[in-house]
Amino acid sequence: MKKILIVANWKMHLDTHEASLLLHRLSQRIKVHRDIEVVLAPSVLSLQPLSLEIDRRKFRLSAQDAYFKDEGPYTGEVSFSMLRELVHYCLIGHSGRRVYFGESLEMVRDKVQAAVRNGIVPILCIGETKEERNMGETKQVIHDKLTSALSNLTAEDIQDIVIAYEPIWAISTFEGEVAKPDDMAKAIKYIRYQIKELYGPVAARDVRVLYGGSVDDHDARAYLALDGCDGVLVGAASLNYHQFSAIVDSAYKLLSERTNSKS
Ligand code: PGA
Repeated sequence: MKKILIVANWKMHLDTHEASLLLHRLSQRIKVHRDIEVVLAPSVLSLQPLSLEIDRRKFRLSAQDAYFKDEGPYTGEVSFSMLRELVHYCLIGHSGRRVYFGESLEMVRDKVQAAVRNGIVPILCIGETKEERNMGETKQVIHDKLTSALSNLTAEDIQDIVIAYEPIWAISTFEGEVAKPDDMAKAIKYIRYQIKELYGPVAARDVRVLYGGSVDDHDARAYLALDGCDGVLVGAASLNYHQFSAIVDSAYKLLSERTNSKS
């Protein structure tokens, strides 16, 4: 069985001291559960200290971004090879990167490849803008972002990666509209369909697909319960330890209900 993945994207918030404090609060509330994986994506500055502090049975670390070259004169950048010992995952192509930093399809593709080359699991973020949605282009955008980002990977590489469907209009930083879980289910299904077309049924079954966009403790369950949804990517609500641990709790509850209904 695939684990439920709950990812906290702290974006450009919290200095190292605040990040440690939040980790401490979360550690007090979050229990070890073998079927749930909780991933924290702090600023790059906090990765080193948090890597020494985390209970690895409870948490894994993710970077929020990295540069695709392994080394060179790229002042200000941090490479995937530098992060190799610190993180298990890295967000790639988050809308914050694409919108504010003009990250192109090619750059996202190169970053996905660099992550895989360095043994870091990419959490590839894709999603459409409000205009694209209104024009009925959601599927096209998913198709284009997915095919270009994955174009240098093999079917075997794909099985391990994570794809986060994050409609840009639903992310709190942008429009922050509440998405309807049923609509999201269609997009998630379409992502798997695309993976199947490109890489076959095994990759489509094994790839983990998350939903992200203004997820909070009230609606997390509705997304987690969607068919084919393997978890959630949480931004704003992950900065609040009450809300974030309640999201993890809703995953525990969902899993125990599923187990009870089977027995
Ligand atoms: P949000 O962010 O939960 O604040 O909408 C999601 C994300 O940035 O991944």
